Amino acid sequence: MDGPDWTSGIDRGRASVARVYDYLLGGAHNFSADRDVARTLEAIEPRARAIAAANRAFLTRATRYLAAEAGVRQFIDIGSGIPTQGNVHEIVQRVDPEARVVYVDHDPVAVAHSTSILAENPHADVVQADITDPGSILEHPAVREMIDFDEPVGLLLVAVLHFVPDDRDPAAILAALTAPLPPGSHLAISHGTHKEQTAEAVRQVYRRAVSGGQATLRTAGQIRDLFAGFDLLDPGLVHGPLWRPDSPQDVPEDPERFWFYAGLGRKR
Ligand SMILES: C[S@@+](CC[C@H](N)C(=O)[O-])C[C@H]1O[C@@H](n2cnc3c(N)ncnc32)[C@H](O)[C@@H]1O
Repeated sequence: MDGPDWTSGIDRGRASVARVYDYLLGGAHNFSADRDVARTLEAIEPRARAIAAANRAFLTRATRYLAAEAGVRQFIDIGSGIPTQGNVHEIVQRVDPEARVVYVDHDPVAVAHSTSILAENPHADVVQADITDPGSILEHPAVREMIDFDEPVGLLLVAVLHFVPDDRDPAAILAALTAPLPPGSHLAISHGTHKEQTAEAVRQVYRRAVSGGQATLRTAGQIRDLFAGFDLLDPGLVHGPLWRPDSPQDVPEDPERFWFYAGLGRKR
């Protein structure tokens, strides 16, 4: 969907979380406001692209494990972003062409692109909804049609929960989203943390210049608490590059400076 369509009705003057991330991943679905923010981020954090890529790589490894080893056949990916390389449906449908995926994002550009690339895919759909309103996701007709809540579900919350401020009660949102999932379901989370001053500077840029970009960076303990009711699988909650790397060469010298944590839990 590279025609003029996807830009209509979009406020090009203000950056969006989805489009800044798209730019950092090397995508083409962003405007100059997004690129300006991304360049500001890169000036503060030269690893910005590497961090975005490492986050995406965690999503890939966790999803591949769920489909290929844990036998999960249905996925809800909230805060799914603008489709890029290695989307969840591509990864899981390589394992089982009938594996089902519902993408959820509140960003209209992310939803427009997802709609376009999924047009021919009967086992994947996209919903425009906000994670802070879990009922609107769980009750959405596309979710009810695609997801069988009697079978294990892979719930993917990758690089989205730090956009949920404390006053929106992320624990309650998690409780609502995970309540209908049967035992054996899985929850993947990656989440920005504030170990470094750089992270705080980046947070300020998002807050000032990015629509919906008010980020809340959390400690490992706070992020671990989001897995209530789930047992964290090996290696637990770790800095993203340390979560089951494909090879030792993939682990940077300073994984703790990739300031996000990642984990995968299994529902009891
Ligand atoms: C950094 S991107 C992550 C994309 C993808 N999950 C990944 O890790 O590659 C964050 C995504 O979360 C979406 N997002 C942010 N706040 C959200 C909210 N309140 N509800 C739904 N989506 C949200 C943004 O639009 C964006 O597409």
